Amino acid sequence: MSLDYPRRINLAQTPTPLHCLQRATDRWGRGHRLWVKRDDLTGCTLSGNKVRKLEFICAHAIDNGYDTLITCGGLQSNHCRATAFAGAQLGLSVHLLLRGEHPGQLEGNLLLDYLAGATVSCYPRQQYAQEQARLFEQWQAHYDQLGRKALAVPTGGSDGIGAWGYIAACEEMHTQFEAAGIAQAHIVTATGSGGTQAGLTAGVQLHQLPATVWGVNVCDDEQYFLDKVAADIGDLRRRYPALAPLTARPNVIDGYVGKGYAVADPAVFDLIAELARIEGLVLDPVYTGKAFAGLLSEIESGRFDGVEDIVFIHTGGLFGVFPQHRGFSFPAIQ
Ligand SMILES: Cc1ncc(COP(=O)(O)O)c(C=O)c1O
Repeated sequence: MSLDYPRRINLAQTPTPLHCLQRATDRWGRGHRLWVKRDDLTGCTLSGNKVRKLEFICAHAIDNGYDTLITCGGLQSNHCRATAFAGAQLGLSVHLLLRGEHPGQLEGNLLLDYLAGATVSCYPRQQYAQEQARLFEQWQAHYDQLGRKALAVPTGGSDGIGAWGYIAACEEMHTQFEAAGIAQAHIVTATGSGGTQAGLTAGVQLHQLPATVWGVNVCDDEQYFLDKVAADIGDLRRRYPALAPLTARPNVIDGYVGKGYAVADPAVFDLIAELARIEGLVLDPVYTGKAFAGLLSEIESGRFDGVEDIVFIHTGGLFGVFPQHRGFSFPAIQ
């Protein structure tokens, strides 16, 4: 089906491959075939799911005369790192509002943020949570006074503009499902700010992809994501009224947050290590590790019964592994 997409700037290496995980299927499949959509390969510093959204967000920024992107996230936010590099590639300034005290030491995504030349402002957790809207406004006014124009990009790039990234990914998967002989599938993704899930949920309907989309939440709870994904889809409809009515409803798999956002149980670290060993695929402890753990556990409980194929969206996050290296336990190093 041909869709009238808004303009995008080509930043991501797409289409990303869709692979069958043969050894993971043998190990955990219980009659299902396990597939991975390798969105960790959308780029190096621009890796993961965020760059798909940024293709549309950056085009919107440039077309509307913005010269600066302000966005926000955790200290190790993949979205902030991807925005910093998208800005550097396109000649846009980037200002990151980060949650938490500055750690002093630069590692993982935070190091990359500085390398890409982003301006970094850190705020204590409480202030970040309570005053986020004001902080965006304050910095926008600051740039305004300097004669500049700053676009406020929401957490994770998740809104009706960013949603196009995963609508486009569904178009890719349509072709790939046909080539792979996938007649019906469950698509499973980590959900953190809801935009990937919103794009997939809308995209499945718009491209008539034979699939049900599930978001495994890595923070908050089921109701939060039902509301957030619906709000992003609502924003999509509001901004692009010519789109066909979107009736698809979000599905959330709750129960895998563990002790909290970015805090993974030892079992998640063990699973990450096992998958790396048997498939050469590296997940992260903040997003994809928890989501994949949820996927496997839901196979066991029979949630996906009746449909053979399960497609896991590998949304990236590699740089989030390094700051959490202490979570892995290996036999004594020789
Ligand atoms: C690696 C990774 N996977 C998944 C997600 C979740 O995507 P979204 O924010 O669109 O829900 C994020 C960001 O939040 C991420 O960085």
